[in-house]
Amino acid sequence: MKILVTGGTGYIGSHTVVELQQQGFEVVIVDNLSNSQASVVDAIEKISGVRPLLEVFDLVDKEKTADFFHQHNDIKGVIHFAAFKAVGESVAKPLLYYRNNLVSLMNILESMGENKVENLVFSSSCTVYGQPDELPVSEKAPIKKAESPYGNTKQISEEVIQDTLKSLPLKAIALRYFNPIGAHESALIGELPLGVPNNLVPFITQTAIGIRQQLNVFGDDYNTPDGTAVRDYIHVVDLAQAHVVAVKRMIENRMKHNFEIFNLGTGNGFSVLEVIKSFEKVSGEKLNYKIVGRRAGDVEQVWADPSWSNEELGWKAKKSLDEMNASAWKWEKAYRGKE
Ligand code: UD1
Repeated sequence: MKILVTGGTGYIGSHTVVELQQQGFEVVIVDNLSNSQASVVDAIEKISGVRPLLEVFDLVDKEKTADFFHQHNDIKGVIHFAAFKAVGESVAKPLLYYRNNLVSLMNILESMGENKVENLVFSSSCTVYGQPDELPVSEKAPIKKAESPYGNTKQISEEVIQDTLKSLPLKAIALRYFNPIGAHESALIGELPLGVPNNLVPFITQTAIGIRQQLNVFGDDYNTPDGTAVRDYIHVVDLAQAHVVAVKRMIENRMKHNFEIFNLGTGNGFSVLEVIKSFEKVSGEKLNYKIVGRRAGDVEQVWADPSWSNEELGWKAKKSLDEMNASAWKWEKAYRGKE
């Protein structure tokens, strides 16, 4: 059964391709390699024993997207990861984000309709909740005004999908990720941001390996137990496995509605300082960090109520924060040839 994975050479995409192939799905990747490398396909092949087909083009190109779907007329489902995701950059370049993240989605939906591909899993984010009024946050929580154009593209995308479902025989599952970190146990794939990392854990591992001088901890005056911001960190492999579960749920016609939303988190909140402590413990490295001012646009605390996903999908995140940090560190060392 053939599944299209857009953004399949990226961080979450590559881990999901491995899990899909290990469960017997045939995968075609479409990626424009704007934030990833073609060599990821070699790593995926090493891990799973199967080389996925990689087609390099930009899904913002309507004609190329249409041609691709005509050529691959046996695709059963689409997992759509391909998108820009840097919050700060989206504030500086809003049109880039709206064009890239929305036009590609519209092209995919149009081609799915034309080619009668009925199953879509969409990569959404807990950013749609903003700073929730109640914690943990469930799927029923209201959507807050987005803090950034990036966040807005996720909100609008969910709306575009829901409106499209009313006019086409489509089904979609939006997976709202909390904070994915860590890497595959093989240390052959992991998170490899181009340039200076925006996210916490890649910044930690790059500081520990000596590429960055110092980690800045953004704010210690939040209303949290130690004053630093709290997030729900989830191992990327746990997250990837949820996508396989979602694809099967669609293909086997087990959805309750033609649009479903699931939180993908562990249900546990950890502060920035707790993440640092866990990293220092599992790596044995002393991290050079400094408390600085808050980062614009950051929420104080957010963690998931994953009970709906646990019950309905029969899926549960298994890995601990220590395991997440240990795998991220193993990957960083392997990538830099330090082990
Ligand atoms: C953000 C988005 C999320 C998006 C993700 C992808 C929000 C609320 N969340 O996650 O939707 O999917 O980016 O990039 O917009 N931190 C430091 N020092 C650093 C880096 C981070 O202290 O150098 C802190 C942050 O202030 C935050 C925590 O670590 O409290 C996690 O930050 P990060 O990994 O960037 O993820 P989010 O901002 O939570």
